[in-house]
Formats: sequence, structure tokens, C-alpha cells
Amino acid sequence: MIKTTISEVYKHVEKEVKIGAWIANKRSSGKIAFLQLRDGSGFIQGVVVKADVAEEVFQTAKTVTQESSVYVTGVVQKDERSPLGFELLVTGVEVLHNAVDYPITPKEHGTEFLMDNRHLWLRSRRQHAVMKVRNEIIRATYEFFNENGFSKVDPPILTGSAPEGTSELFATKYFDEDAYLSQSGQLYMEAAAMALGKVFSFGPTFRAEKSKTRRHLIEFWMIEPEMAFTEFDENLEVQEQYVAYIVQAVLKNCQLELKTLGRDTEKLEKITAPFPRITYDDAIKFLQEKGFDDIEWGDDFGAPHETAIAESYDKPVFITHYPTSLKPFYMQPDPNRDDVVLCADLIAPEGYGEIIGGSERIHDFELLKQRLEEHNLEMDAYKWYLELRQYGSVPHSGFGLGLERTVAWISGVEHVRESIPFPRLLNRLYP
Ligand code: 4AD
Ligand code: MG
Repeated sequence: MIKTTISEVYKHVEKEVKIGAWIANKRSSGKIAFLQLRDGSGFIQGVVVKADVAEEVFQTAKTVTQESSVYVTGVVQKDERSPLGFELLVTGVEVLHNAVDYPITPKEHGTEFLMDNRHLWLRSRRQHAVMKVRNEIIRATYEFFNENGFSKVDPPILTGSAPEGTSELFATKYFDEDAYLSQSGQLYMEAAAMALGKVFSFGPTFRAEKSKTRRHLIEFWMIEPEMAFTEFDENLEVQEQYVAYIVQAVLKNCQLELKTLGRDTEKLEKITAPFPRITYDDAIKFLQEKGFDDIEWGDDFGAPHETAIAESYDKPVFITHYPTSLKPFYMQPDPNRDDVVLCADLIAPEGYGEIIGGSERIHDFELLKQRLEEHNLEMDAYKWYLELRQYGSVPHSGFGLGLERTVAWISGVEHVRESIPFPRLLNRLYP
């Protein structure tokens, strides 16, 4: 008999197959039992007809408990009504392990309960779908950058510097020295870009932010491309092509998952390059005209401001040229006015907020040195970073895309805690 997985049953229509699976759910009557089977690759309904199977097979199907593990055998049948398009006419059920009192039942549970049981909650149809979307975004990310001449480079996690400001660092001891968990690999990626031209990283990022919003994690994953000989506008073009690419990849390869999630795919279909651009100056004017009297030039945007701006567009929107005072030390000033920098945040539609932060970097040695001093950063820790401006300095740019916010947006889940397998939140380190 052919041993297969649920996602592969389409290759075995009308054949008898064997699948290792868990009982996600079950209902039965005197004559028929319906087993909702999951095996990690997908979900399929197994139908057990009393009259067609041995007595003990039907008894097992009737009594097997939720989340018990089984080997099930059955004949694959086309079924137009099921989301998968197939069901299994069961011929045998062998229980491998009996699960007793699985805590997550088909009834409604509160968020905290589900978060406490995250190690089990991941098995649910909805969480499974989000993880599949996440996986597809990661896959498409590697594909996009590999096809466009980028090399993957892995920056360190233990660092001695703080690219995004010193207030949100996780400090630790590195033997006798002070060290921090990486809050961005960018500075190292700049060094890598001077060695390899176009590079990207994908790794964990740590921010000791005391924020408790639906967009903030303490540990999240970031994709950070960096490109030599690349100026501000060219950087935006790479970003819009990349984001459009991953959205289209999910639409193509995660149809079932998007359906499970109830995602409005018409909104995603519109996500094609180019994306609109609005300057910080115009964004402030727009908000003031809209009646936001709590914001003036020089202020950073809060979630309601970002959402109001994003609502004017059906694509992600770049907000460009922020005030120098709002942004990190390394951003290149606008050549026409020195109170703003050549940077852009990309704001996702539908209230998901900033998914990318990026900029052109300062490539002039003296200016960078001056900025480090202005920000009271310890020169010793940044010596190597400054040296990149002493040996063949070139205009260069890059950006960081927050994976979890992107997954939340594309999946349509409300909160980033569902877009990472084991979220680290302000009050949560378990499980
Ligand atoms: O805007 P950020 O802080 O930019 C940087 O770290 C740059 N050094 C990146 C670069 O140019 N290489 O962070 C980039 C993105 C944000 O747009 C957001 O999507 C995500 O990282 N992000 C978070 N995601 C979840 N939880 C948090 N606490 C996040 N902080 C930032
Ligand atoms: Mg940012």
C-alpha cells in the first residue's frame, strides 16, 4: 500500500493509501463516523461506513479521542464539497497513541488560554494556515533575492553596538564585556554589501520595547537587504517589487490557507508595483486637514495616524523624508534640505502599520563621525563601521522588513502574536 500525506492524496485518486495522522475532530452516528484528520501537510475528512468495514474498525473510529495519533488507511475519493477537493473512504484505523482530555476543544476559548497552550494551539486549522503563509513568505523571500543577484549573509546576534537607539536593548554579559542581543543586523550588512554588493539577511531581532500593541513583539524576525551603489529611489523600487512578489506568491501557493483564514483575496490581488509615495510634510498636512489636531511637524506618527494615511490607498504606501530628529544616526540627509533624511517607512493597508523601515545611508566619513558624536555613541564600538567610509565609500541603501507584521497583514490575522510560532510578548515567555 502507498504511504502518503494529505497534501499528496490528489496523486492517488481511487487508490488505497496509508496516512499517519491525528484526529483533529470527530462526529459519528450509529452507521457512519466522520474523522477530521490532520497530518501537518493538511486536513482531510475520513468517512467510516459501518456496513463497509470490520466491526473493530468502526468501534475504533467511534471511540478514538481528539488528537489521538493514528495510522489510517482508505481509498482517496474526489469530493467537490471539501476545501481540499478529496476525502478518504476509510478502510482501517490503527491507534498509535490515545490522547486523554486534550485541552483545546471545538468550543470557544479565550486568548490567554490559547496563548498558554500555544504548543498545542499551533495544531489548529487556523494557526496551521498562518504558519503555512509565513513559510511561503520566507520561501518567496529567498527566491526573490536569489533571482535578483543578492547573497544571503548572516550578521551576528551578539553585538557591541546599537543601530536603532540605546533605549530598547537587551543587555547581556559577554564574559567580561557588555553585549546586546541584535536589534538590527544593518550595520554588519553594510560591511557585507561592501564585500558582496547586494546582500540580504533573515534573522531574529530583539527589542526590549515596553509596547503592548497588536504590532509589537519583543523578539521578531527581520529581512534586511543592503545594496552598494544604490540610492534612495532605487531602494524604494526594490522594496515595492519585493513586497508585491511575496503577496503574489502567497496568492498563488496558499489558496487553501487564505480560504481557511477567510482572507479577502481581492484586496491582495491589487498589491502590484509601483506603490504610492507621500512625503512626511504632506502626510502631516493631510492629517491636519483630516482633523487630527494632536500632530504637528516634528512628531512621529502613532498607529491611528498611520492607519488614516493608509486608508487613502489600496496598496502599501511609502512615507518619505522624515525629520532628521526622528530617525537613527546613520541616515543620509536630503541634499536639498538638511532637516529631513532620505528614508521611507512602508505602511501596509488595512491598519497593519509599518512593515518596512529603510533609508540611504551616510557614506561621508566626516558627516557620519559628527552624527555618532551628536548621538553620544561610543566611538570605539563604531570604529569598524566608520572605517567602511574610509576605504572606497559608495552611496548605499537598504531596508528592514518585519516578517510578523507582514504575515499578519497578508493572512489577515488581527495580532502579530498569531504570526510567529512562539511569540515573546511583554508579559509572556511561556511556552
Ligand atoms: O524600522 P526598524 O526599526 O528599522 C531597522 O531596524 C533598520 N535598521 C532596518 C534596515 O534598514 N536594515 O525596523 C524594521 C521593521 C519595521 O518596519 C517593522 O516591520 C519591524 O521591523 N519591527 C517590529 N516588528 C514586530 N515587533 C516589533 N517590536 C518591531 N519593531 C520593528
Ligand atoms: Mg521603523
